[in-house]
Amino acid sequence: REHISYRRQRTFAMVKPDAVHRLGEIIDVIQSRGFEISRMKMVQLTRTQAAIFYREHEGRPFFEPLLDYVTSGTVIAMELITSDAVKRWRETLGPTDAELARQEAPDSVRAKFGQNKQLNAAHGSDSDISATREIEFFFPSSKVNGITGPETTASF
Ligand code: TYD
Ligand code: MG
Repeated sequence: REHISYRRQRTFAMVKPDAVHRLGEIIDVIQSRGFEISRMKMVQLTRTQAAIFYREHEGRPFFEPLLDYVTSGTVIAMELITSDAVKRWRETLGPTDAELARQEAPDSVRAKFGQNKQLNAAHGSDSDISATREIEFFFPSSKVNGITGPETTASF
């Protein structure tokens, strides 16, 4: 029997230190755009963790400042679920540069809550593979003797 195809997908979102004080407003945007927040936690990244998370950018001129920034305070990590979540969350975020976002996508998260190209309020996975990696990085599956326990914030 045929069903209408409605494929739910996961993506990874992270509210960065400069925008954590506006988390309530950002959650309002996330929910109003139809995303389910399936997991969420507040984390203080170490520099090593930040370097692993952003390893694709190692060696680029903004890499060290980026690590300084994302370790400068707590971040909020979230798993978001909806149809076509990766693409839709990237669209909701807007362009990387918050100043450009204010011109090109004034309703976007980065336009509303970001400051510039570096302090841009939030992260979104750029592909399904990145989403899987980033979710596993922040929410590692915890199995003891083959039994999956409750989600824990102590594991990070
Ligand atoms: P990137 O993955 O290119 O952007 P996005 O977050 O939109 O996927 O870069 C990762 C982060 O690095 C970006 O969110 C902010 C920072 N960054 C800079 O500070 N300067 C830059 O020129 C770029 C490209 C990124
Ligand atoms: Mg990216």
